[in-house]
Amino acid sequence: MNRKLCAGMRSCLVVPLLLPLLLAAGSDVTGEEANRKPNFVLIMADDLGIGDVGCYGNDTIRTPNIDRLASDGVRLTQHISAAPLCTPSRAAFMTGRYPLRSGLGSIGRAEVLLFLGGSGGLPPSETTFAKRLQQQGYNTGLVGKWHLGVNCEHRGDHCHHPNQHGFSYFYGLPFTLFNDCMPGEGTNILGDLQDALQQMAAILGVGLFTLVCVRVCGLLELRLWLLVALFSLSILATAVWYVPFKLMATWNCIVMRNQDVVDQPMTLETLPQRLLGEAQNFIRRNSDGPFLLFFSLVHVHTPLFNTPAFAGKSRHGRYGDNVEEMDWLIGQLTETVDSLGLANDTLMYFTSDHGGHVEDADSRVGQKGGWNSIYKGGKAMGGWEGGIRVPGIFRWPGRLAAGRVVDEPTSLMDLYPTLKYLAEDTQPDGHLDGHNLMPLLEGRVKRSEHEFMFHYCGIYLHAVRWHPPGSDSVYKLHFFTPNFSPPGAGGCYEAKICQCYGDYVTHHDPPLVYDIFHDPSESRPLTPDSEPRYTEVLEQTARAVERHNSSLTSKQVNDTHSTSVQSQMTWDKILWRPWLQPCCGTFPFCGCKEEAPHV
Ligand SMILES: *[C@@H]1O[C@H](CO)[C@@H](O)[C@H](O)[C@H]1NC(C)=O
Ligand SMILES: *[C@@H]1O[C@H](CO)[C@@H](O)[C@H](O)[C@H]1NC(C)=O
Repeated sequence: MNRKLCAGMRSCLVVPLLLPLLLAAGSDVTGEEANRKPNFVLIMADDLGIGDVGCYGNDTIRTPNIDRLASDGVRLTQHISAAPLCTPSRAAFMTGRYPLRSGLGSIGRAEVLLFLGGSGGLPPSETTFAKRLQQQGYNTGLVGKWHLGVNCEHRGDHCHHPNQHGFSYFYGLPFTLFNDCMPGEGTNILGDLQDALQQMAAILGVGLFTLVCVRVCGLLELRLWLLVALFSLSILATAVWYVPFKLMATWNCIVMRNQDVVDQPMTLETLPQRLLGEAQNFIRRNSDGPFLLFFSLVHVHTPLFNTPAFAGKSRHGRYGDNVEEMDWLIGQLTETVDSLGLANDTLMYFTSDHGGHVEDADSRVGQKGGWNSIYKGGKAMGGWEGGIRVPGIFRWPGRLAAGRVVDEPTSLMDLYPTLKYLAEDTQPDGHLDGHNLMPLLEGRVKRSEHEFMFHYCGIYLHAVRWHPPGSDSVYKLHFFTPNFSPPGAGGCYEAKICQCYGDYVTHHDPPLVYDIFHDPSESRPLTPDSEPRYTEVLEQTARAVERHNSSLTSKQVNDTHSTSVQSQMTWDKILWRPWLQPCCGTFPFCGCKEEAPHV
């Protein structure tokens, strides 16, 4: 008994003495390497189609740098975004949760945030992976596009700003690139409403002019007050039309460095270089690590750049030029990581926020949106595969085998739990919809944890995917599909963008069922005769939807921040308010220029 106690005491004394020695010895060999938390460089393209990339089967567009990331790392062939549009997809990416959990599922016509001066955005109560990594000691930076809101109640509260959501450094577009940012490229925002307002102003103007003529010519006795009233009315109508829409480029197309507006309206010609330079500098500044850089590209959204080095060089017009310019930017950034000797310590990731915008083309430029390969549909088309299946590439030499291909269903929402795992962050989370991807990426498991995936269009559940255990099949059930215009056209060509609800969609009961393992283009709906598991597929999916719905309600009941999720996508939250508008110089005209980059 005594001897035992003595032996125990001796080891108690010895261990604390030896421990520092053991640790010191370890760090001499591999301890430092092994204990070091990896850096993360996440690259997201905007509106890029899966068919635009060489390693996904494109043989006429040149994307050697993306292809190299894939051949040096792991390529996912069934990588799915949580929504076919920017704002909700990005919200889900940042939070690891379906966008309607954070109120970013659209309920009506506005499918994304439309004005920087609106009050909607990623709620401060949401946790992003950037915030988690920041708490783990990471230096975190976002360079590029945000599109998840800025202010809530007054200019400068920055409640939705990247700085509030875990990014210590932000340089880029709090909004997005869109047509209005380039003169002569038309508008992306409520074009029909703009036209109606313009017509109204024109009619009033003509009416007024006629009346003045009538009066001046003495054809009719008109009271002066009537003229003045009409005059004021047309001025007012014109102003209403003019102010929010004519100043839209100034108000929405801006660059911020942290909380300061530094370029308004932004200079497009130098934008790609400035974003690249900022991203490279961020990596250089933080090369002691660990760091997170989210390089959120403005390519290949319209309006398309005309950078001289790339203009006219591709075989696919201005759109192809932009894809190749984007690939070059990615090559430059990869080179920065590699030349600093950081390759083995850095997980690099490449994806697109959703599929290509297939309806976007005109006679002048030709193709302006992305190509979604064999997949049906595209941007803003509910659950059709083309809008949500995107490139997904991970490179991490020394940790991930080069050239591995994973065909299992994975999600952009998986980044949150994957980064959290790699940063050894063990704090609990609320409900997450993503899964840690490392077991799949490292080849430790063969099956994805995503047995079911839910495909939303706004807040409306349009489709569900089921990958049954033990089977190769991936069943996809569509409850709603957008009505194409003209019918059969493969897209909403008349309006240029599909809507999620009401008369814009067709309800399918029973749902349309496809097996996208055997029929990836969703061209042959299954029937009880053609598919032995048909009834089972319907039943299993219905049960999964029920479970999923109850997870949504329990979130609403148990959430510590609010009893229900407040929608960020109501008109009230989306429409422009002068007091929320980020602005440098004198409001409402705003204006400042950043000095030319020294590159
Ligand atoms: C390659 O990409 C271009 C540009 O989007 C597209 O027009 C073309 O059809 C694609 N080619 C293939 C083979 O996918
Ligand atoms: C990175 O890892 C690979 C594979 O383990 C190894 O061959 C290479 O030498 C490493 N490079 C550096 C700079 O440590």
